[in-house]
Amino acid sequence: MPNEAKKITVPWATAAPERGERLVMVTAYDYPQGRTADEAGVDIVLVGDSLAMVVLGHADTLAVTMEEMLHHVKAVRRGVERALLVADMPYGSFHTGPDEAVANALRFVKEGGAQAVKIEGARPEIVAALVGAEVPVMAHLGLTPQSVHKLGGFKVQGRGAEARAEVLAAAAALEEAGAFSLVLECVPASLAAEVSGRLHIPTIGIGAGAGCDGQVLVYHDLLGLEQRIAPRFVRRYAEQGKEARAAIERFADDVRTGRFPSPAESFEDPTAAPQAGKLYG
Ligand code: KIV
Repeated sequence: MPNEAKKITVPWATAAPERGERLVMVTAYDYPQGRTADEAGVDIVLVGDSLAMVVLGHADTLAVTMEEMLHHVKAVRRGVERALLVADMPYGSFHTGPDEAVANALRFVKEGGAQAVKIEGARPEIVAALVGAEVPVMAHLGLTPQSVHKLGGFKVQGRGAEARAEVLAAAAALEEAGAFSLVLECVPASLAAEVSGRLHIPTIGIGAGAGCDGQVLVYHDLLGLEQRIAPRFVRRYAEQGKEARAAIERFADDVRTGRFPSPAESFEDPTAAPQAGKLYG
């Protein structure tokens, strides 16, 4: 059951833990996906840089550009009316400093219609600069895919006392810097629960257990459209990839055997003389 909010805003999302409500976030990359997620009543639609992998076919998220992200944010914007629209800042768009970060974030807001941006990593100084420019920021800790080379692969983070303490300290610093929410990706459930208990802003988990204030899944994982990888934290609610393939096979079969199109799927010219015979037997 969707909650009763008519339009999801940043303050509404931030206050979700106080209301005892769990946030629902899903990614989307184009107009029909944005519209479908919005109509399903999710709270937040994230145009994730996972675009690079699940839509553009790259092996990781590093290659996707500002222009590509912006193009997709604009498309999703046209489909989302109620949910909060968050744009993910791609690798290289905020890494050289606050000025570059603010300039790029403003493009997502002004040109793309995003209401907030998400940035990966423990970068409170960038969060503070963005918030100073009136851009709400969703932070992201744990497995941050833009750090794939530094981390040595897509691995669970925050295991062991030192790594755990680092995540706890970074989460506090990001909240202090003004982030309105925090994604926790692939960290032990007990750590995610501890972070969630300590922060006032909502945590949104992916592979971070049930103790977060909300959950997010990638559209293509949730619907069974991504066939290459199936992380353990993904629950598939549909097998649309398999269904799409079977449907296209049926279409191909109908074309090859002359069953498509039927007369009802064709146009006639009532002024023309009736045609003798059929094109196909
Ligand atoms: O890019 C993305 O889809 C994300 C989510 C997994 C949080 O960052």
